[in-house]
Amino acid sequence: MPHIPVLQKEAIEYLDPKPNENFIDCTVNGGGHTLAILEKTKPEGKVLGIDWSPEIIKNLECRISNAEALAEAREEALASSNIEFKNRLILVCDNFVNLEEIVKSENFKSVKGILFDLGISSWHLEESGRGFSFLKKELLDMRYNPQNPLTAEKIVNYWSAPEIEKILKEYGEERWARQIAKNIIEFRKIKPIKTTVQLVEIIKKPIPRKFQQGKIHPATKTFQALRIAVNDELNNLEKALPQALNILKPGAGGRLAVISFHSLEDRIVKNFFAKKAKENLIKILTKKPLTPSQKEIKINPRSRSAKLRASQI
Ligand SMILES: C[S@@+](CC[C@H](N)C(=O)[O-])C[C@H]1O[C@@H](n2cnc3c(N)ncnc32)[C@H](O)[C@@H]1O
Repeated sequence: MPHIPVLQKEAIEYLDPKPNENFIDCTVNGGGHTLAILEKTKPEGKVLGIDWSPEIIKNLECRISNAEALAEAREEALASSNIEFKNRLILVCDNFVNLEEIVKSENFKSVKGILFDLGISSWHLEESGRGFSFLKKELLDMRYNPQNPLTAEKIVNYWSAPEIEKILKEYGEERWARQIAKNIIEFRKIKPIKTTVQLVEIIKKPIPRKFQQGKIHPATKTFQALRIAVNDELNNLEKALPQALNILKPGAGGRLAVISFHSLEDRIVKNFFAKKAKENLIKILTKKPLTPSQKEIKINPRSRSAKLRASQI
């Protein structure tokens, strides 16, 4: 299933793209938000689209180039907008923690707005084969980018019990962190933990049955914690936000919008905005974070935990 953009209308409203303006999408994925921005910034506005997953960048490049083939086959109505977008979309595979460097090396100037739509996409869960989903039998990997040296498999097989417990507590807010960490250590004494299915069984074992019947799957929090740790997600966000501010240049009226999917990310954004507002460097546009409507959640249940915060620089 293709990734359904979350809070797309709301994010675009806050970014407020106008003809010929340039934007950065730090998490371009399937281009849900980017294509909407390109539509509004016709005829000359550009988007610098960044994503850490190389396959994501390739897929998007392919989709946009296929538009040329369609045009050659004279299905122009379908192709024309994508061809037009192709010339205005610069795609880069990199970690947004290097945001200022990327902008510099692409010589991308006059940026009017920057978007972060954090975390994981449908492609990662359903097609990557990298063990992001506890519903699939896959090797434990969880890297957005295969060049990242750390994997989930390394964490569960080599980290100490206190180290594992710490990430499950901090990044997963997992109530059973200590028991799960202990069971991971017990299990790996017998054989290495290689797959998602093994890990799900290990997680479930020390959790009392009555706590396994709630709305969320008992492995949800551990999988979230491992993914955050493998990809150093909170640090990346913490380091990227000040860079976004530098690029937008305080006082220039640019917009920064961030869509987060769990309380740890949202707290970083909230605190960053509050601090910079106090320093008079930004104006917060969302007093309270925007959340998806019931209608959006019904169409796209994955949007349920999303929070959008925006500010003007
Ligand atoms: C929720 S998806 C974005 C969806 C996109 N806005 C759309 O509607 O199509 C998040 C994307 O961010 C990417 N990502 C996660 N961490 C990243 C990082 N540190 N640097 C760059 N991209 C990252 C993931 O690979 C994923 O494709």
